[in-house]
Amino acid sequence: MGGSKKSYKIAVIPGDGIGKEIIDEGLKVVEAVSERYGFRLETEEYDFGGERYLRTGETLPASAIDELRGFDSIYLGAVGHPEVAPGILEKGILLRIRFELDQYINLRPVKLYPGVWHPLRDKGPEHIDYVVVRENTEGAYSGIGGTFKKSTADEVATQLDVNTRKGVERCVRYAFEYSKKRNRKKTLTVVDKANVLTYAGDLWRRTASEVAGDFPDVKLDFAFVDATCMWMVKNPEWFDVLVTNNMFGDIITDLAAMTQGGLGIAAGGNINPSGVSMFEPIHGSAPKYTGKNVACPIATVSAGGMMLETLGEEKAALMIEKAIVKATSEKHVRSLEAGKMGMGTREVGDLLSKFASEIPD
Ligand code: IPM
Ligand code: MN
Repeated sequence: MGGSKKSYKIAVIPGDGIGKEIIDEGLKVVEAVSERYGFRLETEEYDFGGERYLRTGETLPASAIDELRGFDSIYLGAVGHPEVAPGILEKGILLRIRFELDQYINLRPVKLYPGVWHPLRDKGPEHIDYVVVRENTEGAYSGIGGTFKKSTADEVATQLDVNTRKGVERCVRYAFEYSKKRNRKKTLTVVDKANVLTYAGDLWRRTASEVAGDFPDVKLDFAFVDATCMWMVKNPEWFDVLVTNNMFGDIITDLAAMTQGGLGIAAGGNINPSGVSMFEPIHGSAPKYTGKNVACPIATVSAGGMMLETLGEEKAALMIEKAIVKATSEKHVRSLEAGKMGMGTREVGDLLSKFASEIPD
């Protein structure tokens, strides 16, 4: 091992359920390309998740966030445990890392790979290739609100949708830059509900219109979130980059994932452009598939590719993408659905790392 090789420190959080299995395959492929392109990954595993919470009563230990700040990137499997009430692990681990590390962008590419079964009969890979930039640290996820007269007939619950000028502006700016860098249709669509949620909608639209002045070559467009859902199915080829708030982004990217063949392939990055980012498949921990070697690891492998791209290892990231395209287009992987891939989780990981080592540049 040459000590002069470039090296990245990666915090690995397998999490719950299928998290461990899929992250193992993700690491396998990421390591295959790291060898090929001459860099090293120093990984450190953290056992944050449901098991640890049930054992210790703690979601993240006090030192965790500061420790995570010391890494170049974070690679996450999935959190969510059937014996832990909903919200505890999600808020205590996933959202806490997103918020405290100020990963204000949730970047979710929507891309139909050749050969992948998907439900849109008249659409192909040439129609489904866009990116959702989801605001990732505020909106309805801010945790501001409360309950009043709980468990009575007069109970009140509020959950504030918080939109700050700073939060909106940095998100919109990132999306403009992304569209420019992507260099396809150069169209940014702001997705909102400005016809009803008028205060927030106005802030987003005004901010986007102002920031647009710095990006004269990117076309700015506005769409309501309900209509966007319709177009994602009917005319996905209209889209280039979509930018939206946390809640809408959460919802539309599950729909988007289905149009690209399912949660087995949809990846995302929680990005702090000047800090530590975290990459993960967008699916959950799928407890019923745990330990069965049936879950599709492609989303996690793809998230690993996004991680390498963000670290500056573009060639390695592209090779991961090529390996996935080969696996789908040549029908090596029969389906992206758990248990229907025609091979196991580990075997898909082996195949992708073989491809990623062999495909010519
Ligand atoms: C996602 C997930 C999370 C979210 C949950 C697990 C908190 O659905 O990453 O899309 O709502 O952001
Ligand atoms: Mn979600």
